[in-house]
Amino acid sequence: MKEVAIVGVGLTRFGELWEQSLRDMFTEAALAAIADSGLDRIDSMYIGSMSPGLFVHQEHIAPLLADNLGLAGIPAAHVESACASGGLAVRQAFLEIVSGASEIVLAGGVEKMNDGSDVTFALSTAADQEYEAFHGVTFPGLYAMIARAHMHQYGTTREQLAQVAVKNHAHGINNPYAQFRIPMTIDTVLRSSMVAEPLGLMDCSPVSDGAAAVVLTTAERAKKLGKPYAVIRTSVNVTDQIALHDRDNVASLPAVGKAAQQAYKQAGLTPEQLDVIEVHDCFTIAELVVMEELGLVERGKSGPAVMAGMTTLGGKIPVNTSGGLKSKGHPVGATGVAQIIEIAEQLRGTAGERQVKNARIGMAQNMGGSGGSCVIHILEGRS
Ligand code: COA
Repeated sequence: MKEVAIVGVGLTRFGELWEQSLRDMFTEAALAAIADSGLDRIDSMYIGSMSPGLFVHQEHIAPLLADNLGLAGIPAAHVESACASGGLAVRQAFLEIVSGASEIVLAGGVEKMNDGSDVTFALSTAADQEYEAFHGVTFPGLYAMIARAHMHQYGTTREQLAQVAVKNHAHGINNPYAQFRIPMTIDTVLRSSMVAEPLGLMDCSPVSDGAAAVVLTTAERAKKLGKPYAVIRTSVNVTDQIALHDRDNVASLPAVGKAAQQAYKQAGLTPEQLDVIEVHDCFTIAELVVMEELGLVERGKSGPAVMAGMTTLGGKIPVNTSGGLKSKGHPVGATGVAQIIEIAEQLRGTAGERQVKNARIGMAQNMGGSGGSCVIHILEGRS
């Protein structure tokens, strides 16, 4: 099997980007990734975007974006798996290179959420329409139910949830691309307006615009470029029931656990061998449950571990050095690609103030909806 490498990364700032359209943002990120790669051609491309039709009334985005990039003529496809669309785009690009069909593939993600659309409605289309959305439940509501169940089963506290936001904002301050580069205290999180009990505004990822892109090629070709790069040790995609009530345990995210087990097995690694991880903290509770599903801590022990600083930069296993979705922002289709970019930067040693010393192996965990889909990549740095 061909080994695949990430040789170029590029992203826009995340936030309310009123001056940029969907195509502007994608093109900015893609051109930056191509320039960073040093390569002079793209054979094919995949774009992850959750719902351009609902957010900006634009479908058929693959040819639109290829053309805007000056690449009309190449094969291009739009892939969707809710908030895991970006991770899935990278996986499709990875598979295309593994198969030998293409040698250089661009994988991007983009979402323009701030353009006057009904964001909560658009996001809720990723939940089960007949059994969840019909009854009025939204994603903050679904994750609030996960939080309640976790608190009930394991004694997790609101302070422990808040500490996830505090940590991620502390990391995000050093990320020039992050939407909210502001410090946060437990008190501020606890006093923020209630969105869905027990989750307040500061427990939620924000509504964001943004784009991210990576250039992938064979490791053989990457080596010849003469600069550090990251190889993809494994790329996994797992699906699960999308409705929360169908799960055996509401305080769990089984797709994440299954994807992690497959990823560790395929890469021949254990959780202890990871140096840095980006996880899908769309709500503070999500980061806690994901830590447990990835095997970083025993079930029910994630709250105390975050409180003890285990996942803070400088701790045993830094999680979300980019600021995570909470501080960096969450333009849903771009998120999975941006997570992979943070890990690639860490492994290339170019993460600046956020650098994890001697990081060699990292993981990016991207998730759709309330865990109906999960994409995991494990990367290894090479020079
Ligand atoms: N961190 C810090 N400040 C934040 C913030 C965050 N994560 N999110 C919003 N703010 C700030 C805004 O800048 C704004 O400040 P201002 O009044 O000084 O301008 C204020 O808080 C209110 O923000 P606003 O965007 O008006 O809030 P809202 O009530 O419209 O939306 C949520 C808040 C939580 C409902 C919305 O962000 C949301 O739905 N988030 C979840 C998104 C989601 O479900 N994604 C998919 C996950 S599966």
